[in-house]
Amino acid sequence: MPVTDRVHEVREEVTQLASAALTAEDLMRRMVRLLHERMLKYNWVGFYMLEPGAQPPMLVLGAFEGAMTPHTRIPLNEGICGAAASSGQTVVVDDVSKDPRYLACSLETKSEIVVPVFVHGKVVGELDIDSHFPAAFTAEHQELVQYCALLVGKKMEASGQ
Ligand code: SME
Repeated sequence: MPVTDRVHEVREEVTQLASAALTAEDLMRRMVRLLHERMLKYNWVGFYMLEPGAQPPMLVLGAFEGAMTPHTRIPLNEGICGAAASSGQTVVVDDVSKDPRYLACSLETKSEIVVPVFVHGKVVGELDIDSHFPAAFTAEHQELVQYCALLVGKKMEASGQ
C-alpha cells in the first residue's frame, strides 16, 4: 500500500478512536498502540506529559509502545523532547546522530519527531515517535502526528482538563 494511502487510513482510524475513547488517557493508550502497529516505520511511540505543579517543569513518560526507554523523566532543557515542549513547536530530526540535543532511547533510532499537545493554548505534554529509518517523518507524517496530538488536546479540553 502506498504510504499516502496508509497515512489517510490511519488518520481515519485515529479520528474514530478519538470519538470512541472515554478519557484522554484511554485515547492516548489506544493511539500509541494503533500508530505503532499500523505505521511500519514508527518503531517507538509514546507520550510525555508535564508533571502538574512540578518546579522545575518535568516531562514524565506516559502511554507508550516499543522498548522501555531509560528516559522516563526529562527536564525541559534536555533532549529533543525538552526542545519541543519548551518551544511549543514540532521538532523533526532526520538524523539523530547529528543533533547534539538527542537523548538516546535505542541504538537503532535514526530519526525522531516530537509534537507538543496543547490544552487551551498551553503545552501539557507531547507525542514522541522514533524511527529506525533516517528521515522517516516527511511532511505527510508530520501532518498526521500533529493531528494525533491535536485530538488528544481536544479530548483533554472536552474532559475539563
Ligand atoms: N530521544 C528523546 C528522548 C526520549 S526517547 O526517544 C523515548 C529526546 O532526545 O528527547
